[in-house]
Amino acid sequence: MCGIVGILGNHEAAPILVESLKKLEYRGYDSAGIATVSNGKLDRRRAVGKLVNLSDLLVHEPLSGKAGIGHIRWATHGAATTGNAHPHLSGPVAVVHNGIIENFRELRAELAEAGIHPETQTDSETVALMTRLHMDRGLGPREAAVATLRKLEGAFALLWLFDGEDDLMVAARNGAPLAIGHGEGEMFAGSDAIALAPMTDRITYLDQGDYAFVTRQGAEIYDAEDRLANREEVRIDLGATQVEKGGYKHFMAKEIAEQPVVLADASRHYLSEDGLNLPEDLDFSKISRLTLVACGTAFYACSVAKYWFEQLARIPVEIDVASEFRYREPPLPEDSYAIFVSQSGETADTLAALRYCHEKVAKTVAVVNVPTSSIARECDVALPILAGVEVGVASTKAFTCQLLVLATLALKAARDRGHMSEAELARHMDALQSLPALMNHALALDDTLNEVSNELSEARDVLFLGRGAMYPLALEGALKLKEISYIHAEGYASGELKHGPIALIDSHTPVIVFAPHDALFDKTVSNMQEVMARGGKVLLVSDKKGLDVASDGVWQTVQMPEVPDLFAPLLYAIPAQLIAYHTAVAKGTDVDQPRNLAKSVTVE
Ligand code: F6R
Repeated sequence: MCGIVGILGNHEAAPILVESLKKLEYRGYDSAGIATVSNGKLDRRRAVGKLVNLSDLLVHEPLSGKAGIGHIRWATHGAATTGNAHPHLSGPVAVVHNGIIENFRELRAELAEAGIHPETQTDSETVALMTRLHMDRGLGPREAAVATLRKLEGAFALLWLFDGEDDLMVAARNGAPLAIGHGEGEMFAGSDAIALAPMTDRITYLDQGDYAFVTRQGAEIYDAEDRLANREEVRIDLGATQVEKGGYKHFMAKEIAEQPVVLADASRHYLSEDGLNLPEDLDFSKISRLTLVACGTAFYACSVAKYWFEQLARIPVEIDVASEFRYREPPLPEDSYAIFVSQSGETADTLAALRYCHEKVAKTVAVVNVPTSSIARECDVALPILAGVEVGVASTKAFTCQLLVLATLALKAARDRGHMSEAELARHMDALQSLPALMNHALALDDTLNEVSNELSEARDVLFLGRGAMYPLALEGALKLKEISYIHAEGYASGELKHGPIALIDSHTPVIVFAPHDALFDKTVSNMQEVMARGGKVLLVSDKKGLDVASDGVWQTVQMPEVPDLFAPLLYAIPAQLIAYHTAVAKGTDVDQPRNLAKSVTVE
């Protein structure tokens, strides 16, 4: 993971680098550092922890120079210490790195033979050391960087800066994303365009294997075969990159509250008066199977969608987490589609799974929030979820917008395959369009959920139960709670509880049951009774009909609006998110940047 940024500017680089790194904090926040060329010499500042620690350090120990590189770290190799923080310096070379250098041990052995030894535990440092070795042996900075590049295995985005070179930055991309920004007599580079947004909206994305020699006059880009490459310059929408908390205490709170609006936007885009607004060449009548692949919350969105595709369109659906899928070597029929769901569009495992599928299936489809991302660009069809920038590390509005896009795909699949009449389609479209208003009602339960969460914050373990498409929602509720409140939580299919997990039930373990009054309600209530019969403390989240018949003996109830059965997971996501949010606030954890996590996971 990690985020990198580079500047060849006309102003002092340090404050601009720090501002850019702020925009990359979603990629990690274990440590941060910058290096500049000042009076011809490289110098650096590094600090452990959040970026603010680096800013504080720079107040006391400023760094001058108009050329600089910066880094924000999510530790992979080596603990989060100042010594392991980037930029790595060796002799005349400074390097920042995002990704993993897989063959760093072999490189270290080669360096040792030349008498060069590492000072850190990181894989990244070997890039600086190897470049220095090449320079010691007489190569110039450009040649040394390229010679080093040829030795690297793994996934990386890299920026180099050199002693005595105030007008040269070398950039390279293999696996991890890297954008070059064009200014007026200034040039920039960064892990994404958002980091460069304050300086420029003119961006060139490097392709896989590309490297670039950047000076203030422009960037000379070469492909993996060392051929001069002509990469397109695009203008990005700066408005889409401006994110503020807008009066909320946390981005997560704001993003939960935004859901009615963003879902309405996405509905307007995909559901028009003329029907479904999806590419017609996405023809589900011709396929024998669908594969859905993602990680984390996006995987739970796929898990919900499996119920929809199977029930509505009668398509066999395979789902898997990307980290397993990519190494399973699954056989894939040629007449199948594969769908990849990702908020960031940069998740390394999902990207690798996509590359595995490319030549094997009839079409690859991206369901992404970042339309310029690698996954969006590499898929045959890219469908934006239109959630707007999501800053909170815990995914909220992206989840419900992913569900909306997957639901419209399931409706199209049902119609394409002759399993849905126009009248049924219209009814389901109405149901989806009713969700933003229902979400407003669910958001109005904030105070009730806040009170319940105060009690939940005392718990050591929490269980979530659901049946049918509410089962993946139980998994999502548990993931949300554990990632931001650090309370141990698990989600189970209600009917599975008696096969083992029921042993966990005692009077101290709250059990949260998501159970709209649908066809499976009675079954879920039976499982809930089994919990209460063993002294379990149940929080039942249901609608009026459900609570009227099943509230007796439960610890707490939350009354949800009634919602068309099929799409209940989109609505019940709101209490799942609010419970996690308020519990985390009650515990005093760092809601937007929980420990050990990052928003974009670009390492496997
Ligand atoms: C949890 C969360 C993660 C992401 C996962 C995939 O709240 O946000 O589980 O869903 O890391 O990320 P994307 O969707 O960017 O591929």
